[in-house]
Amino acid sequence: MQLGQDWCSAINNPFKAFRIHSEDGRHVEARLEEITLDDLSDGDVIIRGAYSSINYKDALAATGAGRILRRFPLVGGVDVVGTVVSSGDPRIAVGDEVIVNGCGLSETHDGGFAEYVRVPGDWTTPMPAGLDARMAMGLGTAGFTAALAIHRMEQNGQLPEHGPIAVNGATGGVGSVAIDMLSQRGYDVTALTSKTTATEYLKSLGATEVVNIKTLELGERPLEKTIWGGAVDSLGGDILAWFTRTTRPNGNIASIGLVAGIDLSTTVMPFILRGINLLGINSVEVPRELRIAVWNRVAGDLAPVHLDGIINREIELADLSGYFTDYIDGTVMGRTIVRLS
Ligand SMILES: NC(=O)c1ccc[n+]([C@@H]2O[C@H](COP(=O)([O-])OP(=O)(O)OC[C@H]3O[C@@H](n4cnc5c(N)ncnc54)[C@H](OP(=O)(O)O)[C@@H]3O)[C@@H](O)[C@H]2O)c1
Repeated sequence: MQLGQDWCSAINNPFKAFRIHSEDGRHVEARLEEITLDDLSDGDVIIRGAYSSINYKDALAATGAGRILRRFPLVGGVDVVGTVVSSGDPRIAVGDEVIVNGCGLSETHDGGFAEYVRVPGDWTTPMPAGLDARMAMGLGTAGFTAALAIHRMEQNGQLPEHGPIAVNGATGGVGSVAIDMLSQRGYDVTALTSKTTATEYLKSLGATEVVNIKTLELGERPLEKTIWGGAVDSLGGDILAWFTRTTRPNGNIASIGLVAGIDLSTTVMPFILRGINLLGINSVEVPRELRIAVWNRVAGDLAPVHLDGIINREIELADLSGYFTDYIDGTVMGRTIVRLS
């Protein structure tokens, strides 16, 4: 076990963590607390946190609007970046900067809203060249997931010449980063948003068109006139069903989120007559090699160029609890990063 020098003296000191409690598994109470290492889930790598970020899932977990945690109490936060202060994993050295996202953080394992985070070494991704800690959490789970979606779509043959890509939940974290990445890759991107005031923001990220989702005529036929080369879907429900009915032959739809609902009502017709592909995107359970490959693409050919505009807020750990309702209400724009130290 390697120990950093600073760490040797700090090992028993209390530190701050944003923990989520529940007596009955349904009503949650989340608060900033002082805890020690003994309170944290197991792992052979300890990280001094630099930044975490707020994702929709964090808001569901911290407010109890969704059942995210599978045991209580847990530190919240589905992602974190920081410096390794102790390692029992020969692949990871004290002083390394690492990213951890998904892997059960804030579901079954203490998460990233803390000054120290302990995880199995296998969950860590070395900081790719070209990113720093602030950028890594400016992107965070949202950026990683957008990149994973584009990676899967392209593995499945998606190309700019197949037609425009629709991105909904456009002003949110996944949506904003997806627009930036796709437009850098040469795709025409249509941003679908519920916000009437977001056109300038979305065009500044690279959207060629911005459409208010409330004005869409979704129709009811199993196959509607084709519009999209593909789609990146954060909403689920009726809009996802509409994507299946309006995507061009052999196009790819990445199903990522559920902010509008968990139902999906469509028919087999788009699949068997147009060969469209519905790709399920799960950023939590990703093998380490793929996680590293996707983060390397995030820092490489998918690198967003408008991240400064996407990072909307930088807050302190102590202020976290005031920011979750914006996510549940859908009023949020871009990304919020959380300074941990
Ligand atoms: N599968 C995975 O591994 C994975 C990973 C990350 C995220 N996700 C999911 O992806 C979704 C987006 O995550 P995020 O972090 O980008 O969330 P976010 O930052 O909160 O953005 C969500 C966006 O969706 C739109 N929206 C919010 N509430 C809505 C509603 N009731 N009806 C219609 N639109 C609504 C808003 O954009 P507009 O106002 O512009 O429409 C909002 O900004 C969430 O469901 C999240 O859980 C899944």
